[in-house]
Amino acid sequence: MTNADLEKIVDTSDEWIVTRTGIRQRRIAQDDMSSADMAVEAARRALEMSGRTHEEIDLIITGTVTPDYRLPSNACIVQERMGFPNAVAFDVVAACAGFINGLSIAQSYIASGVHKRALVIGTEKLSSITNYEDRNTCVLFGDAAGAAVIEPSENGHGLLSTYMKSDGSMRDWLWMPTGGSRTPYSADFAFDGTDKIQMAGSDVFKVAVKKMADAVQNVLRDAGLTVDDVSLVVPHQANIRIIEALAKRLRVGMDKVYQNIEKYGNTSAASVPLALDEANREGLLKPGDNIVLVAFGGGLIWGAAVLKW
Ligand code: UT7
Repeated sequence: MTNADLEKIVDTSDEWIVTRTGIRQRRIAQDDMSSADMAVEAARRALEMSGRTHEEIDLIITGTVTPDYRLPSNACIVQERMGFPNAVAFDVVAACAGFINGLSIAQSYIASGVHKRALVIGTEKLSSITNYEDRNTCVLFGDAAGAAVIEPSENGHGLLSTYMKSDGSMRDWLWMPTGGSRTPYSADFAFDGTDKIQMAGSDVFKVAVKKMADAVQNVLRDAGLTVDDVSLVVPHQANIRIIEALAKRLRVGMDKVYQNIEKYGNTSAASVPLALDEANREGLLKPGDNIVLVAFGGGLIWGAAVLKW
């Protein structure tokens, strides 16, 4: 879906969207493709890259705010569809920080010896919860999935540290007001847009920059590194201006910050694995490089991870 397509739906312009967000197009899944369908495809490719078997995966974590059903989890659907006989599977609801949250849970379980090998997925069909009559939000979001296989490392490479934090006091800055147990849908429900994503954009913008910078500083400190040791920052792709402000706050040049927002928009939990995968395929990640992942989303919740490639 291009900006020109959106110009036909709401009162917006390519010029506004590009200058205010950096987005030129976003992917919208077909009606018959769900977030679990995308998760299965991403998981299949990640497993293939890892060279591991289905039997070797004993933990599946899916970050998503757009599961196929409220019950069961998308992770259980992935388990059933792909056949992971030895795994426990569950979802985490951490919005755009869902993949990094999944990484941090997987790291803890693996480090403690509870699990041996995890499949971590970020998948979102945000088009299913986007109000295409609200120009404040509909120009931003796209659909995507990404996945990674996590296992113990023996050479000091891999995840060095992870950091997560949240603050529920700003929960109504980025939320879906209805449809949950507090306000379940009834026969006379108005479907007035409250069943879709609502966001106080400029408020979220300011907190996002500050908290993502905090998360990067904390995760680097925990890993015994400074920003000078970092080869590439792979941030959540919500807005190019947020990414630029983050780079400025961290005092790193934009050449050290990956961005692909113009092609996909904001894909929530899928955004970081999608960007990491593209950076890898573009040959930007060299063995021994320190890479920082960082994300921020509805909750509000934010987090970062540092890994040695
Ligand atoms: O992924 C999780 C975290 N999410 C984020 O981090 C998103 C954070 N927020 C943002 O990225 C930005 O705040 C937005 C892109 C959502 C909005 O950009 P902004 O520069 O903060 O604009 P604004 O909300 O302050 O609105 C400025 C003007 C308003 O018009 P008035 O009231 O000044 O006349 C809006 O009505 O722009 C108007 N506007 C638009 N105009 C054309 C808002 N959306 C659009 C649009 N097309 N799509």
